[in-house]
Amino acid sequence: MAEPQAVCGASELPVEGLKAIQAGDRAVLIGRIQGQLVAYADRCPHAGAPLRFGKRQGEEITCPRHGWTFNLLTGRSVPDPSFCLTAIPVAIQDQHVVLTL
Ligand code: FES
Repeated sequence: MAEPQAVCGASELPVEGLKAIQAGDRAVLIGRIQGQLVAYADRCPHAGAPLRFGKRQGEEITCPRHGWTFNLLTGRSVPDPSFCLTAIPVAIQDQHVVLTL
């Protein structure tokens, strides 16, 4: 069963951008994109590459392995929205970033 888990302090998040963390056995990207709090599994849905090494431009990130691009506000692939990043419920509670994993 999914449990809320504090993974870092809210002040550790970048004002704009992503931070890669390890939450138990899960690699996760968390951050703020255009003021929206986001969290995704750090794993490309195409072939599993770690997106932490991708290139971020604005609200998009490009996978380092084959170049697929994803919108970080929606999690959807830009050229083919049927492919999505795995979103993880995220919130800030008592100055901590809390993921429901
Ligand atoms: S593993 Fe990301 S585009 Fe192929």
